Amino acid sequence: MANDKLKPICTLRELHESRFLVRRISYKKQPISAIIFAFEGNAYAYVNHCMHMHRPLNCEQDAIFDETGLYLRCSMHGFIFDPKTGECQSPVCFGQRLQALRLEEIDGTLYFAEKHLALID
Ligand code: FES
Repeated sequence: MANDKLKPICTLRELHESRFLVRRISYKKQPISAIIFAFEGNAYAYVNHCMHMHRPLNCEQDAIFDETGLYLRCSMHGFIFDPKTGECQSPVCFGQRLQALRLEEIDGTLYFAEKHLALID
């Protein structure tokens, strides 16, 4: 039975072969992008929008992790985030979270599982 909440992103293989993926999406009717990545063997996705000054995490560099690989890092001013929760670890925005996006994996394909999300080609 078709599930119109599911929007395909990539195969798990593509995810694990990439440092991260970016997909243009509409989320709650706003055009924006999403970052999708694997961390410690699990897939995560967030709206690509730093709460500090409203920039994509990869706005200045083609990277979303810091040099340790343990934290997401916004390339604009260097704020860092827990990859598992999206929680900001930097003082100015401490405790605020990136908007997490639900994912679902079916037969090796990863999908966004969000009702208010549409893919933009
Ligand atoms: S805009 Fe992300 S750290 Fe400033």
